[in-house]
Amino acid sequence: MRPGIRFLEALLLITVGLFSFQLGCKRAEEKAAAPPAYQPEVPALPPAPPGFEEMPIPADNPMTAEKVALGRQLFFDKRLSADGSRSCYSCHVCENGLTDGLPTAVGALGKKLTRSSPTLWNIGYHKEYYWDGRSASLEKQALAAWSGANMGAKPEEVVATLNAIPGYKDQFQRVFASEGTPEHVIKALAAFERTLYCGTTPFDKFQQGDQTAISEDARKGWEVFRQSGCGTCHAGILFTDLQYHNVGIGMDAPQPDVGRQKVSNVENETGAFKTPTLRDISRSAPYFHDGSVATLEEAVDLMAGGGKPNKYLDRKNLRKAAISAKQKEELLAFLRSLDCECDLTEPKLPN
Ligand code: HEC
Ligand code: HEC
Repeated sequence: MRPGIRFLEALLLITVGLFSFQLGCKRAEEKAAAPPAYQPEVPALPPAPPGFEEMPIPADNPMTAEKVALGRQLFFDKRLSADGSRSCYSCHVCENGLTDGLPTAVGALGKKLTRSSPTLWNIGYHKEYYWDGRSASLEKQALAAWSGANMGAKPEEVVATLNAIPGYKDQFQRVFASEGTPEHVIKALAAFERTLYCGTTPFDKFQQGDQTAISEDARKGWEVFRQSGCGTCHAGILFTDLQYHNVGIGMDAPQPDVGRQKVSNVENETGAFKTPTLRDISRSAPYFHDGSVATLEEAVDLMAGGGKPNKYLDRKNLRKAAISAKQKEELLAFLRSLDCECDLTEPKLPN
């Protein structure tokens, strides 16, 4: 070969090489400059409201702002359900006091459930979950809701879908230093649920010394509430003793829901259910575990009447309260002063 051609060949090679090197650099630069596929909003962790104890947090699921942000997305994401029809939020919505407004819930694939959706306010303070307390932690409950009739999903399949979405994949890496697993999903969901505080209602402001935060009727209603013994069960700042009582709801059904008895095997707990909080109660109609009572007025009548007589009625703690029509109005005004501020909105979800 003649040396002149060799030289030209080499020159050509160098030129092509340089050009592609430059191109490569440019691509890398573009890549570095491009924003990540998905940037979650990561609000700071909310503190417990004034007067509330520190919330107990399980040692194996510490709270971080990024985990809560991930949990919030998952809570709103319908891709978690078997048929893409429901997210957790579908049955626990703001306008209905974090319940669903139905007497009894309807799950994914149109599955009819037997109980009413309970509120999730201050749920991180509970020690046992569900109306009958059959679940021992928020993590276990989340798995049950996800894989059971509520969402009807196969967690392994859902997790494969989530891991294929760059926005989720990145977040699982950041929060759990691994790809998503069913355990990570339920941990993130539970962490998010532990931020659902309701503790700055008009009544709370009144309790902290602002006499004008609630109406005079509501102030009188608070007296009626205490004098009528409601606070025995709807106790303390959570307005629940987290215990199980039979107040007689549904006991006249041909096959009553035995409630706590099925979990504890204690006959006396037949038809007993966990005392619901009364926070946001004006929004969470219909009422009771079976959603059998449509309005707050009727629910209050029933409770002030001492519950519905049956063999297992909690007669020790329930009594008929002799209250006038005026006092009932006051009691209702007090209950409405427990309305919560709900600012849950659907976050932008990773795609
Ligand atoms: C189809 C409606 C529906 C969907 C979807 C749903 N829930 Fe619920 N949720 C319910 C009902 C009904 C109950 C009460 C069931 C019972 O007590 O047997 C409940 C109970 C709960 C409780 C227990 C509350 C307490 O007072 O003990 C928590 C916590 C909860 N849900 C969180 C979730 C999470 C997290 C998701 C998503 C993974 C979810 N829910 C999806 C209807 C729903
Ligand atoms: C013995 C304990 C006890 C006492 C006393 C008591 N409650 Fe309740 N309350 C419960 C339980 C338990 C439930 C849920 C029962 C069920 O669904 O089967 C409930 C349910 C309610 C509900 C419906 C809540 C919901 O989310 O569906 C309202 C409203 C209510 N009570 C108000 C009152 C008022 C007002 C008083 C006083 C007049 C009172 N309660 C006294 C235990 C009690």
